[in-house]
Amino acid sequence: MNNYKRYLVTSALPYANGPVHIGHLAGVYVPADVYVRYLRLRGREVKFIGGSDEHGVPITIKARKEGITPQDIVDKYHLIIKDSFERFGISFDIYSRTSSKMHHKTASDFFRKLYDDGIFIEKTTAQYYDEEAGQFLADRYIVGTCPKCGNENAYGDQCEKCGSTLSPTELINPHSAISGSKPVLHDTTHWYLPLDRYEPWLRRWILEEHREWKANVYGQCKSWLDSGLQPRAVSRDLDWGVPVPVEGAEGKVLYVWFDAPIGYLSNTIELLPNDWERWWKDEETKMVHFIGKDNIVFHCIMFPVMLKAHGGFILPDNVPANEFLNLENDKISTSRNWAVWLHEYLDEFPGKEDVLRYVLCASAPETKDNDFTWNDFQTRNNSELVAIFGNFVNRAVVLTHKYFEGRVPPLNALTPYDEATLNEMPLIKQSLENNIETYHFREALKDAMNLARLGNKYLADTEPWRLAATDRSRVATILNVALQICANCAIAFEPFLPFTTQKLRYILAKSADSWDAFGRPDILAEAHKLNEAQLLFDKIEDREIEKQKAKLKAASKLSAPAPQKDACTCDDFMKMDIRTATVLEAERVPKTDKLLRLKVDTGIDVRTIVSGIAEHYSPEDIVGKQICLLANLEPRRIKGIESQGMILMAQQPDGTMRTIRPDSPVENGATVS
Ligand code: 2FM
Ligand code: ZN
Repeated sequence: MNNYKRYLVTSALPYANGPVHIGHLAGVYVPADVYVRYLRLRGREVKFIGGSDEHGVPITIKARKEGITPQDIVDKYHLIIKDSFERFGISFDIYSRTSSKMHHKTASDFFRKLYDDGIFIEKTTAQYYDEEAGQFLADRYIVGTCPKCGNENAYGDQCEKCGSTLSPTELINPHSAISGSKPVLHDTTHWYLPLDRYEPWLRRWILEEHREWKANVYGQCKSWLDSGLQPRAVSRDLDWGVPVPVEGAEGKVLYVWFDAPIGYLSNTIELLPNDWERWWKDEETKMVHFIGKDNIVFHCIMFPVMLKAHGGFILPDNVPANEFLNLENDKISTSRNWAVWLHEYLDEFPGKEDVLRYVLCASAPETKDNDFTWNDFQTRNNSELVAIFGNFVNRAVVLTHKYFEGRVPPLNALTPYDEATLNEMPLIKQSLENNIETYHFREALKDAMNLARLGNKYLADTEPWRLAATDRSRVATILNVALQICANCAIAFEPFLPFTTQKLRYILAKSADSWDAFGRPDILAEAHKLNEAQLLFDKIEDREIEKQKAKLKAASKLSAPAPQKDACTCDDFMKMDIRTATVLEAERVPKTDKLLRLKVDTGIDVRTIVSGIAEHYSPEDIVGKQICLLANLEPRRIKGIESQGMILMAQQPDGTMRTIRPDSPVENGATVS
């Protein structure tokens, strides 16, 4: 079925437990945005659905670590993500969230329909339970020794040291990451989606009817299917998510990968409460999911099975998943802070949204993992955007102002070279269309760039500035041709560089043209008045690039815990007299930023301590607090004050410090060992 009437385009819902980085953008959001902008330009009916994925165990872990609620976490990151997408020109028709009421209802009803239709298998299995915390433990909450490599900090689902996939019962000496206690096995019941029953259908639908899917997607699906599908649990024992809508299922929620793709549906319903069915149930709608490669199985196998089992819904026509983007020859890593964060880029490179869009599209990991480097970013800006596209437009417009008072000059006699140049435009258009429609966005961007290259070369070859004094009629023709190419560029680049094309249209004093105009040699009428020239792009200097590289290195170092020190003996430790004490008074040490002068009650005496914590605690914050103190440290004079001991502090990798204190008050002078 190729005669689609409308396009429902979705992009993976990012987890709202951190901001988005260039890997997400290159893999998912830039290609999706290019695609929908192109479709809109062609006058197709299209909806672009986005939103935050706000459930799942990692969000609960982060919340627990930070001592706040999962809702606090997702509220914070949803806003950061939504705002940075908007600033970057990702043109969603809706960007909602899976903690919304609409989503909870939609996901809950979806599950209930499958449940009522008897689709699920109900199974009771033994799972680890933390008796102290009174809850079942998600695999990530169980830590123990890896049976394969001996790493003592392996998780219940994976050992990050050797990369093995594990199940919690394989861990040696498992303990709960919540309470530290030894978990015990308790029976629990869950609902399973019997993927195996749909295997024959999936084989036909994907392997025979969707041979056109990208090789990386098709290949991954085939390998899943060839190794045999198993029933997959779609519920979890967790208190964060969409509650399982079945009696007796208290304390259970839908598995995050069950509810997240339903988010596409909920968000469409939120956007079009009275019209959503046309978009989800009519065979004339083409649904396309933009995702990264780690999401392939969920979008090509699990979600289609859910839709098929539910009945009445269309299935995706394509899932053009990308591979991963690396950064400076290393895997992007949130925990190591090896990333370029979108919100930071937008603050640090104001007005350069399109430069990043360009670079990420030009080096998108379409067929294999690819690398982003700051040097490449600079080169693509300086040698391609500035030197070719920007230079061409600027020359054409400046010369028109210089020789024809800024009015489009008449087209006089065309030479064969002029004609050949103009004839290139429909060919470029054709190629660009084919490339976008088949999800080859890098090639499509090259086509657009070829148009700018064509214009740049045309001006360099015809050298109108040399003819100004002798052949005004020829100069008029050349500039007319060049300006028509500029106007074509304003259309061709629109899906890729929307901020730049807006600027270009302003320079050309032109409202937006439809795609149909692309390829025509007469978009700008003779005598049409242009606005003043302005540069489309600026050169990026070496120092800006060096600054980014240094920032990346510094941030990644800061995020790593300090390495372990050399071994010490028990005797070494016993020499230290560490005691509890209470801060009685505190004041800043004059003319310093970092120092506080404290008076503390150590239980044995009241003494003065000078401590370098003024950037982390104000005097009011610290007075009355119990702390731990190294009491027998040799007295030292700091800024003329004798300091009799040292307060123990926990220093985080980013340099911030917190005091160490007993978890409930104890007498001052209690010894710590
Ligand atoms: O991998 C991820 O970031 C997931 N949050 C993607 C979910 S896509 C869809 F199913 F919502
Ligand atoms: Zn291991």
